[in-house]
Amino acid sequence: MAEFDFSNRDSFGSKFGAIAAAAGSAIGLGNIWRFPYVVGENGGGAFLFIYLAFIFAIGIPVMLSEFTIGRKAQRNPFGAFRKLAPGKPWYLVGLMGVVAAFMILAFYTAVAGWTLEYIYQSIVNGFAGKSSADLGQMFDSFRESTFRPILWFAIFMFMTSWIVVSGVKNGIEKYAKILMPILLLLIIILCIRSVTLPGAKDGLLFLFKPDFSKITGNTILEALGQAFFSLSIGMGTLITYGSYISKKDNLANTAVSVSLTDTFIAIMAGIAIFPAVFAFGIAPESGEGLVYRTLPNIFQQMPGGYYFSLLFFILLGVAALTSTISVLEVIVAYFAEELKMTRKKATIVASLSVSVLGLMAVMSWGPLADFKIFGKHVFGMLDFTSANILLPLGGLLIVIFVGWYLGKSKTKEELSNQGTLKAKYLNLFMFLVKFIAPIAIAMVFLNGIGILKF
Ligand code: PFF
Repeated sequence: MAEFDFSNRDSFGSKFGAIAAAAGSAIGLGNIWRFPYVVGENGGGAFLFIYLAFIFAIGIPVMLSEFTIGRKAQRNPFGAFRKLAPGKPWYLVGLMGVVAAFMILAFYTAVAGWTLEYIYQSIVNGFAGKSSADLGQMFDSFRESTFRPILWFAIFMFMTSWIVVSGVKNGIEKYAKILMPILLLLIIILCIRSVTLPGAKDGLLFLFKPDFSKITGNTILEALGQAFFSLSIGMGTLITYGSYISKKDNLANTAVSVSLTDTFIAIMAGIAIFPAVFAFGIAPESGEGLVYRTLPNIFQQMPGGYYFSLLFFILLGVAALTSTISVLEVIVAYFAEELKMTRKKATIVASLSVSVLGLMAVMSWGPLADFKIFGKHVFGMLDFTSANILLPLGGLLIVIFVGWYLGKSKTKEELSNQGTLKAKYLNLFMFLVKFIAPIAIAMVFLNGIGILKF
């Protein structure tokens, strides 16, 4: 088998392209589907507050750590740790990332498939004249069925593989650059419609007024998991993307702009969803279906709703696609660089094996509804374990690696682009990755899984 040619690795073509690709990974169903449903299940405002604190104190430092590791090593996560820490077991962090990628891709592609169903329903005008209860019913019966969710899953998986086979510059970057800005515009329009609905105020109060009595150890763990999931951190996605970023780009700027944009979009999604949730009498804690039950109601209440709905679900699908490709890329880069497969073979092997798990996730409300592990169906299990356990654990090890193993001078070299940039924030960053982030993650984690009680 041919050796992977490291001197000829693919990379992003421009600074904007790199930001767009990383933002494309971060922005996706996590912001528009997962954020609102997790906020809804965890009581609203107080959760949001904790979430924001985690983004700044933990999320941004982890993201910048991943970029540092990736760009310094010029490798997939597994290879990066092996190169930067030869002979040490740090590469296990990279392997754990590959496992997390398998799990996330499986359930995420299932939800991305729901988006295709909603594009189809938009085309055939399937929401027209339905009450809020009818729309909820429509979502439930779709999700409980077998054939259509599987079909959409398969189509989405195929699209993801198709783009990943085309490589970094011509695949990932090209799509991300054009489509993300349009999505943002649509969400802003949706927010305007949602907050002007009668009864919208209750939704805004739910989202922004903190009620700290609703906070438990598990809520805090959910907030941490959501922060990691939304920023695409903790499993090496951004180590992989970092390895494609030009040595001339400013990594800290990139990490901060990506994180702020991601957070902004999540909040906008919240503003678009919760007023409508309350206006249409939907339960905020209705779980994974929340967005799919709520949005069609809003579309019905706006002029041009038919086109708007169609365009929205198409763009949501695209946002999901720029995220699924980043997850698949983690597995493919590992297979290609470490197991010496061609890019094409790596992609085929990865997507077929993810599909086995993915089909089980898809069928979690249908044929596998009674199949439960620790009281959760396959989908819930994959979602919970990856976001709330594997990502924070990966993030913990990543900051410890940068803070305590790589150390200040090597980190400075990378963050200052070999001395050409000032990197004035360096001391603050080192303090965060050495102390604040690891202690905070460890405490939330142990508290959330019940080992420690505060
Ligand atoms: N950040 C993506 C989203 O919010 O939709 C999901 C995701 C992508 C999670 C890549 C993890 C990852 F590595």
